[in-house]
Amino acid sequence: MWVDVITLFPQMVESIAAYGVTGRAIEKDLLTLKTWNPRDFTTDNYQSVDDRPYGGGPGMVMQVEPLRRCIRAVREQAVPHVKVIYLSPQGKRLDQTLLRQRAGGEGFVLVAGRYEGIDERFVELEIDEEWSIGDYVLSGGELAAMVVIDAIARLQPGALGHGESAQQDSFMDGLLDYPHYTRPDEIDGLAVPQVLLSGDHARINRWRHQQALGRTAIRRPDLLSNRGMTEHERALLEEFMRVHDKQGRFQICGHLMTEEDNHE
Ligand SMILES: C[S@@+](CC[C@H](N)C(=O)[O-])C[C@H]1O[C@@H](n2cnc3c(N)ncnc32)[C@H](O)[C@@H]1O
Repeated sequence: MWVDVITLFPQMVESIAAYGVTGRAIEKDLLTLKTWNPRDFTTDNYQSVDDRPYGGGPGMVMQVEPLRRCIRAVREQAVPHVKVIYLSPQGKRLDQTLLRQRAGGEGFVLVAGRYEGIDERFVELEIDEEWSIGDYVLSGGELAAMVVIDAIARLQPGALGHGESAQQDSFMDGLLDYPHYTRPDEIDGLAVPQVLLSGDHARINRWRHQQALGRTAIRRPDLLSNRGMTEHERALLEEFMRVHDKQGRFQICGHLMTEEDNHE
């Protein structure tokens, strides 16, 4: 798929192509990233893209015309009816469900704002959707665009080294991910959960599923109530809760997680 980004700082957005999963996805042509700078669509010697706000007040506002010429050029190269998304703190909150819906599409255009934002008439005339990456205000939409691109890149088939990794990520099944461990098997008296060393894949999968349920119940009960649980999951979670100690901490080390494991 492709993502085009309209930004005053193209190099900042393009830097994502040099690293990790996004870099690999771009290198393998699983994702095509293209940037467009509204300054290239200005008509004055100063390449102005902003002006003072009507009504006074601090800061500057991105003008309609350079952005509009820019988006017209983008549309000429894009598929008909391409979705144009403005990254904005006032937009729909980005989440994994929204990203998964879009990850299978052909592509979309992201618009990164700067200053106090974009003249509202551009938003009315050219923007299809507004997406926010959270309830805080960034200085510009570039980091938000990079967040979207990174999260979309890892959902492209073949982008990750291990094909299953994205499926097991937090939010993919409405749950948080289970805890991970690597060598050494003990640090400062903290041992890797025994079950993970057992080689018994059925038990390992059961433990991981239980941990994911337990973690989600503790950290994000809202996710669990939206998702619901099967009878089997309910039983797993109840078992998880039974080993919750009296201080309100959960035992998340596997050897304490099941009655059976408890006696190992
Ligand atoms: C300083 S912000 C403008 C904030 C605007 N005055 C407001 O309060 O809604 C400049 C640009 O950063 C981007 N931005 C800031 N916070 C964001 C967020 N949480 N999610 C997505 N984009 C954001 C938007 O593109 C915005 O136009």
